[in-house]
Amino acid sequence: MAPTALDHLLEVEGVTVRFGGLAALSDVGLTIAPGTVAGLIGPNGAGKTTLFNVLSGVVRPQSGSITLKGERLRDHRPHQLAGLGVSRTFQGLNLFGHMSVLDNVIVGADRLARGGLPEMLTGLGRYQRDERELTARAMAALEEFGVADTAHALPGTLPYGVQKRVALARALVSEPELLLLDEPASGLSGDDTAELAAKIRGFGRRMGVMLVEHHMDLVMDVCDHIVVLNFGQVICSGPPAVVQADPAVAEAYLGTPAQEENGD
Ligand SMILES: Nc1ncnc2c1ncn2[C@@H]1O[C@H](COP(=O)(O)OP(=O)(O)OP(=O)(O)O)[C@@H](O)[C@H]1O
Ligand SMILES: [Mg+2]
Repeated sequence: MAPTALDHLLEVEGVTVRFGGLAALSDVGLTIAPGTVAGLIGPNGAGKTTLFNVLSGVVRPQSGSITLKGERLRDHRPHQLAGLGVSRTFQGLNLFGHMSVLDNVIVGADRLARGGLPEMLTGLGRYQRDERELTARAMAALEEFGVADTAHALPGTLPYGVQKRVALARALVSEPELLLLDEPASGLSGDDTAELAAKIRGFGRRMGVMLVEHHMDLVMDVCDHIVVLNFGQVICSGPPAVVQADPAVAEAYLGTPAQEENGD
């Protein structure tokens, strides 16, 4: 079967989510091309995490469609994500505190290996080999983020920046085609943020990335395309220079002074 060159890795059309009387997302549409980094920005409460929750199958939209690699997603569930080629990190860490760093990362790979029922029913030998492979892959992912020496520690005993790297290793270990990052730079030092920027550019060469971030320097630096949400609506979409020059975007941020991050 010849590989098809898909214009869009992900296509979101007309997605609306209401929580009671609140429209968290209103008729949201966007696309992500393979091998690009798309930024999703907007003030607090704009609907960014809600969109990630829709993509992850955690929140069901009242209307709209999600098409991944040309296939419409219907009723997908969070545990199916790795099998679909999608991986996410969470706002905050979301690591399992009672499990070692290595086991946390294995969870990310495990979902992929055990994705299909036939896999589970094909015997113990296969299963044991899977376990060894999973451990090797998880260690390689930890090494990629320079934290392999923490493999047997509990996450809570490690500095925040190290835990953030473990969370990234967990998301990357399944080798996703679409990576959703929800505020990966929050709580990081300037040096760690610069290192993260380089990593995200690297991910963007291997997969499609959707980046939610409040650090505007990072967003402008690493994104090929940016979508701006305000009160659940897309108010601007385009390359960084276009978004930066759009008065509607400045107005949305000025309406929420807590988001200003002008350091000079
Ligand atoms: N499960 C839920 N039930 C009710 N309201 C919700 C739920 N999840 C989100 N909301 C509301 O939907 C709106 C969008 O929230 P969301 O978390 O998507 O914003 P966000 O853009 O990620 O904000 P932040 O930058 O602060 O993380 C907010 O008003 C929020 O309070
Ligand atoms: Mg959020």
